[in-house]
Amino acid sequence: MTAAAALIAVAPDDAEIPEEISGDHASSSAGRRKTPATEGRILISKVSIGFKDRKGRHTHAVEDIDIAIEPGEFAALIGPSGCGKSTLLNAVAGFVSPVAGSILVDSVRITKPLPSIGTVFQNFALFPWLTAVGNVEFALKQFRLPRDERRQRALLALAEVGLAEHAEKYPGQLSGGMKQRVAIARTLVFGPSVLLMDEPFGALDAQTRLSMQGLLLDLWEKRRSSVLFVTHDVDEALILADVVYVMSAAPGRITRRIVVDTPRPRAVDRLDQAFLNRRAEIIGLLQQQPSPL
Ligand SMILES: Nc1ncnc2c1ncn2[C@@H]1O[C@H](COP(=O)(O)OP(=O)(O)OP(=O)(O)O)[C@@H](O)[C@H]1O
Ligand SMILES: [Mg+2]
Repeated sequence: MTAAAALIAVAPDDAEIPEEISGDHASSSAGRRKTPATEGRILISKVSIGFKDRKGRHTHAVEDIDIAIEPGEFAALIGPSGCGKSTLLNAVAGFVSPVAGSILVDSVRITKPLPSIGTVFQNFALFPWLTAVGNVEFALKQFRLPRDERRQRALLALAEVGLAEHAEKYPGQLSGGMKQRVAIARTLVFGPSVLLMDEPFGALDAQTRLSMQGLLLDLWEKRRSSVLFVTHDVDEALILADVVYVMSAAPGRITRRIVVDTPRPRAVDRLDQAFLNRRAEIIGLLQQQPSPL
């Protein structure tokens, strides 16, 4: 499934309208919700995922993955290109089915995309013919909401990511960072308990990337959704995450779980020795992997 198709398909016809959207939290903005203690727990148990090629040959993308992400935890996933990071994320999102093992979010087995699980991709996956607010509104069209309410919720989500002034612009009129803000707003508008991000800042310049990391941490601190964040950048993983999972080359397995207890805010120009040790450890693990090229 393509990224855009996946986003359209996020709520199947029989999907329940999330509380955030149904109006039970109508007084809240696009954010600030009460999070039940178990909301957002991700349990990936013994998961293997494979693909069949045209000749019917199986390739294993990831093998025997065990990851437990607690409600409100920020987890990063790092590993060499092709090790299966996106595949694993897509399985948590419900776009890909594991061949073995199970993925539970809040005790619900993931077999299809759910509105409580928001996904943000590197390439934004915006519709170029819709404005920023149109893109966010579109995501809400699958729920029976009055048009005005849909628009109001979309505008609130855009305001939350600092784009209130740019709501009527088309993606072609927005910078890369702004496009990614729209993509984040489109996900936030569902009030997800789980946020999955696949190298969301990989296409951005260094300065924009830093400001997007700051925005993401602000949103996360406000909402406390659980986050699974794929990145190639060791510093990005260590600046953002509570825990970093390191994967081996394909077929990917988890080779190390590293807890990052450095207090936030963290910055690369204010690193303590523990942070530097973790960085050296992760780089060492990645260097042990054969180059994909
Ligand atoms: N839809 C698919 N059909 C067949 N093979 C696939 C499919 N999606 C991924 N793969 C294969 O699974 C393996 C893992 O790919 P994946 O995109 O998950 O890696 P990745 O770690 O995200 O890489 P990168 O860091 O370059 O984004 C690769 O060998 C890839 O070719
Ligand atoms: Mg990938």
